[in-house]
Amino acid sequence: MLYLVLVVIFIITLYLFSQKRPKNYPPGPYGLPIFGHLLQLGPSPHITLLKLKEKYGPIVAVDFGSYPAIGISDYRILREALAHPSFAGRPNLNVFQHRSRDVIARGLLFTEGRQWLEQRHFAIKQLKALGYSKTSIETTVQAEISDFLINLKADCNRPMSIRTRFHAPVLNILWALIVGERDTTGEAAMLFKICTESIEEHNGLASLCMFIPWFSKIFPKLSGLDEMNKNLGPLWAFFEKYIKDHQSTFIPGQVRDFLDAYIQEIQNTTDPSSSFYKEVGERSMLSTLLDLFFAGGETTANTIHWTCLYLASFPKVQKRLQDEVDSVIGNSRLPALTDEISMPYTCAVIQESMRFTALIPLAIFHSTTQDVELKGYKIPANTMVLMNVYSALHDKEYWGDPEVFRPDRFLDDEGKLIKHEPMVPFCPGKRVCIGEVLARNELFLYITSLFQTFSISTDPANPNPSLDPIVTWIQMPPDHHLMFTQRNS
Ligand code: HEM
Repeated sequence: MLYLVLVVIFIITLYLFSQKRPKNYPPGPYGLPIFGHLLQLGPSPHITLLKLKEKYGPIVAVDFGSYPAIGISDYRILREALAHPSFAGRPNLNVFQHRSRDVIARGLLFTEGRQWLEQRHFAIKQLKALGYSKTSIETTVQAEISDFLINLKADCNRPMSIRTRFHAPVLNILWALIVGERDTTGEAAMLFKICTESIEEHNGLASLCMFIPWFSKIFPKLSGLDEMNKNLGPLWAFFEKYIKDHQSTFIPGQVRDFLDAYIQEIQNTTDPSSSFYKEVGERSMLSTLLDLFFAGGETTANTIHWTCLYLASFPKVQKRLQDEVDSVIGNSRLPALTDEISMPYTCAVIQESMRFTALIPLAIFHSTTQDVELKGYKIPANTMVLMNVYSALHDKEYWGDPEVFRPDRFLDDEGKLIKHEPMVPFCPGKRVCIGEVLARNELFLYITSLFQTFSISTDPANPNPSLDPIVTWIQMPPDHHLMFTQRNS
């Protein structure tokens, strides 16, 4: 009996302790010990946060397992926090350390502080030098698209799954920047496919182990973490092969691509506290490669996929876009970036597609780097921050009919493009996506080329496919079949 009383007292103390909040901390619902609000937040936390907003306001306290967190669901406050350096940290999760083969995260996606700044500045500088945001990348993208269209023609006129169809061509463009050649074997795309499917499959439980670190230690198999880690092995090996090749052929002063620039930076670094120094530099190099591929591959490929699905589902929008493609570009030449200025409707479709999808609904988790105040609330250092991008892109008060796919909302009365303050798909601010320009250029060239060559329709056996996403860290399109019919053939 005494034991039972002690256990009850222990559980109550644990519960009360878990509910203790600092003074002036944002309000939020009661959570569970150990799990915090993980179970309440459910499979679509961005939607739950929107519901919580009605009761608690736009800044809500929710605990992600062992990690105290706040969710921000208002585009004005989002912009304010994203621009503030104290909100530019990342939580120190064990999965990020593991993928970096280190006791702290390496690379640029999941790091913070000096290390992140060094890696970010380096990556931006080198990608710019390699022409990633300029017209010099246009030729690479156009060549990749031409090949892609030829392959697609072989499969047209019958319903087909396009689930992973865009991954290889998109990864090839990044690959060309990073290692100076296309991945002709398709190995990179295949490895990413395995990882993506694994993330999708283990999304629920694996997220538990991310936020309750001891859970994964006790139940590595059940948690799905074992499998996620197993998939990292072949990915590491794949990148290491290229790193070794480059190291053996590198000539100092002759930078061929991003990897050469990285090798040169490691060789030139003499400061032991730098993230480019010796072994730490090597681990950072591997992590940065993984970062660029995950951040740049899945995102662009899935946005193209979603746009195809929307345009197949809304044929009137597709027809209007094709009319613009036909009148501005015609069918005797490839689309070029200089066409963009004359094609507002196409740009509006791409914008609406990004808005409607809200591809990365909670951005990538941020964390506070020091105690900071936001709208009168005190947020302690190391609080995880969920930037609810979805809430901005689907703000009912601002957009009126956010659940309707309506590209015209991006055009004014004269048919010119309009900028909207809640449009934050790339999270403007200190950690703004470094691939935004490349992604926008790729999206324009892919969408115009695809609809110049094909009309896309839904599968007659499933004419109204679901537009509900599969929610992981990104919103993936559901599996369905689409039919590509060649135009002007
Ligand atoms: C449609 C395509 C894309 C979308 C919607 C997208 C969106 C985003 C978002 C929302 C973030 C998180 C920003 C934050 O944490 O506040 C991000 C970060 C990032 N993106 Fe993208 N992205 C896209 C394409 C790309 C491409 C092509 C690259 C490759 C060059 C890339 C590289 C990165 C990197 C490295 C980061 C981390 C930046 C940092 O932590 O400092 N992204 N992206």
